[in-house]
Parts: sequence; C-alpha cells; structure tokens
Amino acid sequence: MSKPLSESQNKSLGDSISENDLYSRVASHLASGSEVRQEHLLAHWDRLTEAQRQQFGEQILGIDFEILDREIRSGLSKQNEVQVDWSALAMRAESPDAVRLVDSSSEILQRADEEGARALSAGKVAMILVAGGQGTRLGFDQPKGMFPIGPVSGRTLFQMHVDTLLGAMRTFGSSIPLLIMTGPSTDKPTREYFAKHSNLGLGAEDLKFFEQGTMPAFDSRTGRILMDTPSSIALSPDGHGGVLRALEKNGLLDWAKERGIEQFFYAQIDNPLVRACDPRLIGLHRVAGSQVSTQVVPKRFATERVGNVVKVDGRTQIIEYSDLPEPAAVQTLADGSLKLWAGNIAVHVFDVAFLAACCGSSDALPFHRAKKAVSYVDERGEHCVPKEPNAIKLERFVFDLLPAAERTLVVEVRPSEAFAPVKNASGSPTDTPETSRQAISDLHRQWLEQSGVRVAQGVQVEIHPMWGWDASEVQGKLISDRRSDVPLVIESDTYFT
Ligand code: UTP
Repeated sequence: MSKPLSESQNKSLGDSISENDLYSRVASHLASGSEVRQEHLLAHWDRLTEAQRQQFGEQILGIDFEILDREIRSGLSKQNEVQVDWSALAMRAESPDAVRLVDSSSEILQRADEEGARALSAGKVAMILVAGGQGTRLGFDQPKGMFPIGPVSGRTLFQMHVDTLLGAMRTFGSSIPLLIMTGPSTDKPTREYFAKHSNLGLGAEDLKFFEQGTMPAFDSRTGRILMDTPSSIALSPDGHGGVLRALEKNGLLDWAKERGIEQFFYAQIDNPLVRACDPRLIGLHRVAGSQVSTQVVPKRFATERVGNVVKVDGRTQIIEYSDLPEPAAVQTLADGSLKLWAGNIAVHVFDVAFLAACCGSSDALPFHRAKKAVSYVDERGEHCVPKEPNAIKLERFVFDLLPAAERTLVVEVRPSEAFAPVKNASGSPTDTPETSRQAISDLHRQWLEQSGVRVAQGVQVEIHPMWGWDASEVQGKLISDRRSDVPLVIESDTYFT
C-alpha cells in the first residue's frame, strides 16, 4: 500500500483535502467494513493521479458499510440470510381488495373522477417519471427515454409522457410538475436532451431532474467489492426503489410539501400508454384515504411473467412471478377465474406524507440481490470479463412500499388503455418497440372508431394529446363538434396533431 505523501506533495492539492488525510480516511473507512476486508480497493492507489485519488477516495467514503455489510453477509451465507418462504407466503396469499372494472358503479367512478379533477386543478399532484435504469434488454445506446416510439410521429418516450402531461395541464387548467429520476448513465444525456429541445414545452419551474443513488457490486463468492477501473468501483443504480432516498436527498419531499403537493403520480419511462396523472386513479386514492394506490391489469394466464399484486396477512404486496410457485399461481376461485389475478403495471400514486414517514425507517425498502455477470479489474490491473454471473447487484423495488402502508388501494384498468411497455429489442416475443407502437395505434383507432370514423385495415393512427387527451375528448371533437378536417374513412397512416 502507498506511503503517505510528503508535505510538498500535499501542497499541490490546494484547499482540497490533503492526500495524507484522504488516504488515512479512506483506509479507515474501508477497515470499518467488518464482514469482509475491502483493502484490495487500494491496490492501485500508488499509480493514480491526484485527481483520480480525490475522485476514488470520495467514492469509497460514500459507501455505507452498515448497509453493505448486512447485504454481503446475507449474500455469502445462506444461514444468516433472512429467507422469505415464498411458497408458504404464496399459499396464504389472497386476491387483493380491488376496484374492479366489472363491479365499480358509475356513481363511485363519477365521484372519483370529480375528486381527481379537483386535486389536479388545485395543483395538489406532481408526476414522477423514473428513467434511471440501464435498459440493457432493449440494447439502445442512449437513455431509453430518447427511444422513438410514436407509431406515426416517431415521438420519443420522453415526448410521449411529456405531451400527455401537457394535455393533462390543459385539461385541468393547472401546472403539474414533472420530476424525472435519472441514473448515473442517463443523467447527463437526459438533461442535455431536454435542454436541446426547450424542455419539450415544459416550463422550467415544472421540470426537475434528480439522480438516483448507486450500490457497489460485489463478488458473489468472496464478498469483495468489484472494481470497474483501477480508480473506480463497479457501481450500479440502486433500483427504481432508489426513488425514495433520492427524493429525500434532493430535498424534493420538502419542496413538495411547501408547494402544497399531496400526491405523486408515479410511472416508468418504458410504458408510453400510461395516462399521465390519471384523474380516476388519483380520485379513487383520495376518496379512499389511501397512502399507496396501484393500477393493475388482469393476468392473461396463471404463470404470466408479471408481478402479482396480492393480499397477505391483511397487507397488500407484490410477489414477483419468479417467486410465485406454480401451485399457488394456478389456484382458481369458485367461478373458475384466477385467484391471484392482478398483474402489476408499475403505475402508482403515493401520498407525499407517507413517503416522508417512510424515510425515517431504513427498512422501509429492503434490497433485492440479483446475480449478474460484471466485468472487473483485478488486483494485478487485468480487465476480467466473466462468462458466468460472478457478482451480486443490489436493487430496491418501489413496490415494496405497498406492505409498509396501512391503507392501500388496487385499481383495475384495461391493458389496452394503460400498458404497452418497451422492454426488449425488436424480434423478441414480447414487449418490443413494435408491440408497443401497435398498442398505441390500436387504442387511438378505437377512440376514432367509437366516434364513427372508419380506419382501414393495417393503417397506423396516432393522436397527439393536445388534439385529444382521452376517448371522451376525441368523441367530443368528432361527434358533437363534427370536425370537417377529419375524413370519415382513414385510408393511410395519420397523425392527429
Ligand atoms: P426495468 O426493471 O425494466 O430495468 O426498469 P431497465 O434498466 O429499464 O431495463 P433492463 O432490465 O436493464 O433491460 C423499469 C423502470 O424502472 C426504471 C427504469 O428506467 C424503467 O423506467 N429504473 C430501473 C430506474 O429508474 N432505476 C433503476 O435502478 C432501475
């Protein structure tokens, strides 16, 4: 290990922390990680430039060993691990209490729609869009939000969400701030993209970016933190559940309270069919006094690869498809329908006060461990590319907030109106750019056809939210206020803007 630097070497660092101090602080911080010795991180310290030492030192000092040690311990020793017995839990799971499409009376829905509209008009809602993921399955080399998805317009995922939000602002006559969570690889290009495109039409006061945290990846056999380069740790974003910590760290919970915002509408960048700030979901949440509400779709078959929204021991929670044993998945009710029917689509409403209360409890969101192949630099400085998964990555999931809430609400929506994620590259069987574009066009075709316009087979249609924000606005335009600029039969791809 390197010797401390001489006085003259220290002087060159100016006002920044002296290198001797930095070295001893870093070394003692590493020693505080009690479970596994992590001093290998300093193997290349002697060869680093001053700037690299500063940067690397800060990275190491930023590691929370209290949390990391616990995860490493659990990752290494199955005996110490607090294992969830998913089989037992899944067999106790019941259907969630839900507002279902078939049994919700129009009176309840009307009340919810009015309450949602009131809250939106009064500026009590902001939208959170999480866009910090690495999007590895899609294989796009820029942030996923910059991927073109409009079936006719080619608008990007960012544009689709922002346009829908601008449509909501116009409909409710208010300003609805958008908070975009970025990650280490998406933060800079996302900010640059918005700056280059005049914030996509959002006022500067209605747009905030905040970057999520990261967690070190560690060797699954030894627990040693992996190095990405000789002067940096292999870090990965801490999951969409990192949103809680990132909101707090960036002062956005206090900002929301000061601005009178009571609810966050939460959506993910990869689903362009989300109805930004859906007034019905917000209204139902408020009328029920819920702390966390979630939209679900009926699963198409028992073992579909979606998170299962269920009730266990009186609390709503999500069981991932990979944790749901088949005997539990295939259970049916007396009418033959699936007992665990509710599929998660990652559209939620959170009470700001509830999130603030959760920040006080470090266990509100546990870490999940995923075994992945992570390239690293070893102590000799060699770059190693593993063929098999060699590392544990740690992520938090936002839906783990559900069981932390005392009052939750589950609301069913039609998949065709709310869910068309872009997860996989073209050519994959599901959730591709093509399936998503088709779903958008199908929904907009339905809106037009409900209003008496015929759309020829195979034709793609797309409606800009400023032209028609939802089915009823489109109907208004085409039935009561028959627009002569819209033909009765649409014969070629058309973008209504
Ligand atoms: P996914 O779980 O689909 O991950 O994220 P991903 O990173 O987008 O894609 P893959 O798995 O690498 O292919 C669902 C949503 O959560 C966000 C993503 O940006 C996406 O909107 N997310 C995910 C984050 O914001 N941060 C994360 O650390 C992980």
